[in-house]
Amino acid sequence: MSENTINHSVTEQEAIDREKKGKKVVIELQDVRREFHVGSEVVKALRGVSFKIYEGEFVTIMGTSGSGKSTLLNQLGCLDTPTSGEYILDGTPVRKMKRSERAILRNRKIGFIFQNYNLLAKTTAVENVELPLMYNKKYNAKQRREAAVKALQAVGLGDRLEHKSNQMSGGQMQRVAIARALVNDPAVILADEATGNLDSRTSFEILVLFQQLHRQGRTIIFVTHNPEIAQYSSRNITLRDGMLCEDKVNTCILDAAEALAALPKPDDE
Ligand SMILES: Nc1ncnc2c1ncn2[C@@H]1O[C@H](COP(=O)(O)OP(=O)(O)OP(=O)(O)O)[C@@H](O)[C@H]1O
Ligand SMILES: [Mg+2]
Repeated sequence: MSENTINHSVTEQEAIDREKKGKKVVIELQDVRREFHVGSEVVKALRGVSFKIYEGEFVTIMGTSGSGKSTLLNQLGCLDTPTSGEYILDGTPVRKMKRSERAILRNRKIGFIFQNYNLLAKTTAVENVELPLMYNKKYNAKQRREAAVKALQAVGLGDRLEHKSNQMSGGQMQRVAIARALVNDPAVILADEATGNLDSRTSFEILVLFQQLHRQGRTIIFVTHNPEIAQYSSRNITLRDGMLCEDKVNTCILDAAEALAALPKPDDE
């Protein structure tokens, strides 16, 4: 499969071309550094990372353990601020914001999807998905419910609205998490090893969903250890020692639905 994938670097010229085509920059990092002080030691987790992510890109971020992926994702998700450098999210500079302002920005602009789903236990699918809207005064109870039901239907869970987290499979729980990430219509979806806990078939089902979102024009950033996943995204960024060591456009994106169809049927396994 992978031999069909032709990669080439995101050159400066390409970046200029994309801006010319009117593609909006959703995320811009300018020389972002993050240091942690542990006792007398300084850990340089990010050592000057700069890139732009355009609307509608499906970007995978890879790198070995300790290369700075989670630290980077925490910056992108406004959960942490850089030691130096600037982060501009959908036109808004984040670094000097107050914590409370960042929380609102995060709620409006970012949809998070985690490896372990992070759903509330003993809470129904629809209640979990309604949660991000609780902090948005634009929605009353009826509108919250309607939006949550719509998001669950969009991920194929229209028949599991009242199921509690412990009454669903891993793949279903991750679908609920995806619906929750979508419900606020965020500028960007951030996923941290979103298929990491799932078996191969279920991983591909979730990947099909991510590709559907990509086709609908969503901007997705997907952190993963798994190089196979990169073949289904439109751009691959690799970190090494807190620095960007590779940034490639994937011109031959594989189709997750085809890969899913080619897998042996569950009965044959
Ligand atoms: N809160 C923290 N305090 C001190 N050091 C930290 C902290 N968070 C991360 N680090 C250090 O920063 C470096 C990058 O860590 P990070 O968690 O970003 O790596 P990662 O690429 O996500 O790794 P993994 O693939 O194992 O999840 C590591 O050396 C780590 O020990
Ligand atoms: Mg990590």
